Amino acid sequence: MTAAKSIFLAFFAITSSLCLAFDPSPLQDFCVADFTSQVFVNGFVCKNPTTVTAEDFLLSGLNKPGNTTNPLGVNFTTASVFQLPGLNTLGLTLVRIDYAPGGVNPPHTHPRATEVIVVLEGTVYAGFVSSSPNDTLYSKVLSAGDVFVFPQGLTHFNMNYGHSHAVALVVFNSQNPGAIIDANNLFGATPPINDYLLAKSFQLSKETVDELQAKTWPNPAVRANNVLGVDIL
Ligand SMILES: *[C@@H]1O[C@H](CO)[C@@H](O)[C@H](O)[C@H]1NC(C)=O
Ligand SMILES: *[C@@H]1O[C@H](CO)[C@@H](O)[C@H](O)[C@H]1NC(C)=O
Ligand SMILES: *[C@@H]1O[C@H](CO)[C@@H](O)[C@H](O)[C@H]1NC(C)=O
Repeated sequence: MTAAKSIFLAFFAITSSLCLAFDPSPLQDFCVADFTSQVFVNGFVCKNPTTVTAEDFLLSGLNKPGNTTNPLGVNFTTASVFQLPGLNTLGLTLVRIDYAPGGVNPPHTHPRATEVIVVLEGTVYAGFVSSSPNDTLYSKVLSAGDVFVFPQGLTHFNMNYGHSHAVALVVFNSQNPGAIIDANNLFGATPPINDYLLAKSFQLSKETVDELQAKTWPNPAVRANNVLGVDIL
C-alpha cells in the first residue's frame, strides 16, 4: 500500500467514525419537527420556517417532580425532540430524573448518545461498565453538583443512594438517544427469546429463565406526551 493510500484510509476511518458517532450537523438555523409529515428522513421533516414561533422552542415543567410511585421508584421528565420539536436536528436531549428513596434506573444503554448526569438533590450511585473482555466497572457516589459521564453505547445505571428524594438532570448529545433496557430487552422480548439460549448464556436453569420471562418488565420511559408512541429513553 502506498503512503498516500494509507493516509487516505486513516483519514477516512477517522472522519467516518466522527460522522457516525453523533447526530448529523444542522444545515440551517433550525428545522422544527413536523410530526404530521408522511415523509421519512433521518430525524423529522422541517415545519415551514415562516410558521415557526418561539413556542416551538419552549417546554415548561422541568421544575415539577415526577411521580415516583411505580415499581422502579424513578420518573423521567424528558425534553427531547418528541416534547420539544425545536430540538430537531440539533443533537440534544435533556431529562429530569426523580428518584424515590431506593429508586433504581436499571442497567441500560443508549445506542445513539453519550450522557452526562448532574445531581441536583440527594445522593446518587452511578456507574458504567466498559466493553468486553475487560468489563471494568467505573462507578461513583455523587452528591449535589457532581457530574458523571456515561460514554456512548456502554451499559450504565444509577440509583438513589440516600434516604430522601433525589433529583438529577441528564443531557444527551442526540435528539433521540434511544434506550435498550437490558432486563426488558432480554427477558421481556416479544416473542420471547429461546429460553435454552438464555439459560446457557446466563448460567441459569431454564425454570429461572421461564420465571423471568413471565414477569412484567416496566419501562420507566413510557410517557403520555410522546407523540409517536416511541420510547426514547
Ligand atoms: C411520571 O410522573 C408524571 C407526572 O407526575 C406521571 O404523569 C407519570 O405517570 C409518571 N411516570 C411513571 C412511569 O410513573
Ligand atoms: C402517583 O402515582 C400513584 C400511582 O399511580 C398514584 O396513586 C398517586 O395518586 C400519584 N400521586 C400524585 C401526587 O399524583
Ligand atoms: C483490558 O484488559 C486487557 C487484558 O487484561 C489489558 O491488557 C488492558 O490494559 C485493559 N484495558 C483497560 C482500558 O483497562
